Amino acid sequence: TATQRLDYQAPAFWIDSVELTFDLDPAKTRVLNKMRLRRNPDVAPQPLRLDGEELNLARVLVGGAGTSFKIEGDQLVLENLPEGNEPFELEIFTTCAPNKNTQLSGLYVSGDTFFTQCEAQGFRRITYFLDRPDVMASYQVLLRADKAQYPVLLSNGNLVESGDLPDGRHFARWQDPHKKPSYLFALVAGKLVAREQQITSRAGHKHLLQVWVRPGDLGKTEHAMNSLMAAIAWDETRFGLSLDLERFMIVATSDFNMGAMENKGLNIFNTKYVLATEATATDADFANIESVVGHEYFHNWTGDRVTCRDWFQLSLKEGLTVFRDQEFSQDMAGSPSARAVKRIEDVRVLRTAQFPEDAGPMAHPVRPDSYVEINNFYTVTIYEKGAEVVRMQHNLVGRDGFANGMKLYFERHDGHAVTCDDFVQAIADANPASPLAQHLGAFKRWYSQAGTPRVHAQGQYDAAAQTYTLTLTQSCPATPGQPDKQPFVIPVALGLLGQDGRALALQLEGEDAAAGHERTLVLHEARQTYTFTHVAEAPVPSLLRGFSAPVILECDYSDAELLTLLAHDGDAFNRWEAGQRLALRIALAAIASDAPVAQAAVLPPAFVAAMRDVLRHPQLDAAFKELVLTLPSETYLAEQLQTVDPQRVHEVREALRAQLARELHADWAWAWEQHHASGAYRPDAASSGRRALAGLALAMLCLDARTSGDTLWPGKTYQRFKTAANMTDRLAALGALVGAGHALAQPALERFHQLFKDDALVIDKWFALQAGRVDRGGDVLPSVKALMKHPDFNLKNPNRARSLVFSYCSANPGAFHRSDAAGYVFWADQVLALDAFNPQVAARLARALDRWSRLAEPWRSAAREAIARIAAKADLSNDVREVVTRALAD
Ligand code: ARG
Ligand code: ZN
Repeated sequence: TATQRLDYQAPAFWIDSVELTFDLDPAKTRVLNKMRLRRNPDVAPQPLRLDGEELNLARVLVGGAGTSFKIEGDQLVLENLPEGNEPFELEIFTTCAPNKNTQLSGLYVSGDTFFTQCEAQGFRRITYFLDRPDVMASYQVLLRADKAQYPVLLSNGNLVESGDLPDGRHFARWQDPHKKPSYLFALVAGKLVAREQQITSRAGHKHLLQVWVRPGDLGKTEHAMNSLMAAIAWDETRFGLSLDLERFMIVATSDFNMGAMENKGLNIFNTKYVLATEATATDADFANIESVVGHEYFHNWTGDRVTCRDWFQLSLKEGLTVFRDQEFSQDMAGSPSARAVKRIEDVRVLRTAQFPEDAGPMAHPVRPDSYVEINNFYTVTIYEKGAEVVRMQHNLVGRDGFANGMKLYFERHDGHAVTCDDFVQAIADANPASPLAQHLGAFKRWYSQAGTPRVHAQGQYDAAAQTYTLTLTQSCPATPGQPDKQPFVIPVALGLLGQDGRALALQLEGEDAAAGHERTLVLHEARQTYTFTHVAEAPVPSLLRGFSAPVILECDYSDAELLTLLAHDGDAFNRWEAGQRLALRIALAAIASDAPVAQAAVLPPAFVAAMRDVLRHPQLDAAFKELVLTLPSETYLAEQLQTVDPQRVHEVREALRAQLARELHADWAWAWEQHHASGAYRPDAASSGRRALAGLALAMLCLDARTSGDTLWPGKTYQRFKTAANMTDRLAALGALVGAGHALAQPALERFHQLFKDDALVIDKWFALQAGRVDRGGDVLPSVKALMKHPDFNLKNPNRARSLVFSYCSANPGAFHRSDAAGYVFWADQVLALDAFNPQVAARLARALDRWSRLAEPWRSAAREAIARIAAKADLSNDVREVVTRALAD
């Protein structure tokens, strides 16, 4: 049942236009689909096979007359169609039941409002169609519904007509001026209100922007609208891409499987990425809204104007669009230091989520070769690694070269459905002298080979010759179906530091003069050696600056060298990285040690002093300090190990954290005093950085109070919690009390629930905080189970399921990996429960035990048993079946 990339065949028919008429009714919606089709002259004549799922078929007409047809599985097959290449008309009348659609794919009801989600294959749940991205049609949509219950009727494009009908009904007719694949179709109908904004583009065109929400939520839409306007302006300035529609709409729904969806002109969003006020949303929420609104808007060109030929090319639009949203957020952040903070955050996601995926049973190339269920391939590899692959191209051809490449890409492919190869070819062709063009064939391996490459760096200083020789070696582990790998093209940005931390000039052997203090080596063979000349002292290499490639860099630094980098590296990313490497080294030694945690997990004085220097540093930004002072996560630590004892990892990290809390007590108190004052709330990088550091300080002070018995800081924290002027500060204070397991945590949680009981997104935070808190003696699972019975809990709502079940199973390893296996039993129960009504969400949760085969006993056997119990269920969805089958094969 797997679909193979190499089996791609062009469609046997084209659909030029579609006229859809909807009579919307939650229990029985009637859909009339009138299409103009013609045979694809390039393909041998064959029957027409249309996809359809859970539809009731009432009538099929060809050219207005009845015709014979048959149903084969999920396809409607028409054999007696007109011969020749002339267009003909096909009419299909079906009904569906949106209120029974619990999968949230296709047409469904949330609250009392109709929404659609068609990517990747939801359109076939609305009508019979060639539901594939390379069939691009013009859409006209007529919506009819009860006017009182569904006063707002929206679809893609322009509203061309609307009015009343008999019996209290009304209609709206929409016409999309652009051709599109079916996955970009959308409709919305219900009681909604809009924040509106008129804008004039740089080119002088007028556009209407709308953010549609439930009536009570209008006051929470300002930031989303500001983000949309900023995104529109940014795409014009940075890439010369303008809004190509008179009207651009965003609609928010509280029932949504993913983050958001880029339907042409009618983006549909999870409320989580639209609604925000300072009282209800954190700085992270504000930043996420900006980035997701940007992401979906940028799809308007990279995704909608140029789309994917088939779903194996998904990263063509997703990797590129994530790269674009990352750049947008960096440009919005402004200062070089704030840009670096964003880069560090992005790399952290890559390393804690994508690297494990690339090393586990679900590993797949950025352009996969096969899938059973395409929904399982909306992954961090397609998105985040895909973005890194685009970023490498950007860096290899330069900023202007990349802009030229994008121009060429649109010149060649606008209005078409194309491949990842087409993209990289355009970037290379626009930059024929670049290292990308020079190594294009090898570079493309980033699309075809899975796994995270390892780069080993070995430096040799020759004092007599004043040379420094750097040898870089690369390798890549086997992944499912790919035992052997060819070398990748790996850009390694680097600098050299003198022992006092000064940047040294870089001159390679054979060059006449030094070429600045930073340069990029392009490693393209398994092993390459570079010799730098005129090096007056043994240098400390600063390698892979800005994380210039998605690889694991191994370099045998001494502690002293890492301390030099932490104190002086001009590259903020590597400065942070040096601190992480030091912490990692200490933690890994403690994890490997046979001694009890209390003796093994000890930070040496030099490390603590270096952390103090960063915390007290007069110039560094608060946001950067917060990142440096945060120890590598349990997930990242576990990834470094061949065999993982998750409890040991948890205890070691907690012991190190407690020591940092204790030994820097005075410094944390100082940091809090310096950073906690907030004036009028603004979600910008500088002020959110101050709040982040103040929040970390409070968490550390409360943590320390746990052992010291101090009551001052927990008391202050509770005060802060009660009087906080914004959600960031309030949640940080609550989290500090909960994280320290303080007695004040319970009353604070109760008060918080009371305050926000009517705000679903805040109640999600309330669940997530409790499911994600530090485990102490196995106390998290019982409270998660109790919360499952809370009147506010509802497994059917994806946001709520994520806030409680995913926060526990996927984001709290110390609590989840219990030695009594109860965490795994709970997990399997929830995967099965979810699978009965929402396979997409169930399959996400099923990924929580991807890395089971690395676990030590007894966890390993217990995990295998839990996975096997899921796999033994007879009527699993394809989604979950694919995930657990691959896991068991590991
Ligand atoms: N294209 C959307 C985005 O990245 C994600 C939609 C994913 N939907 C799905 N059912 N897998 O913005
Ligand atoms: Zn996307």
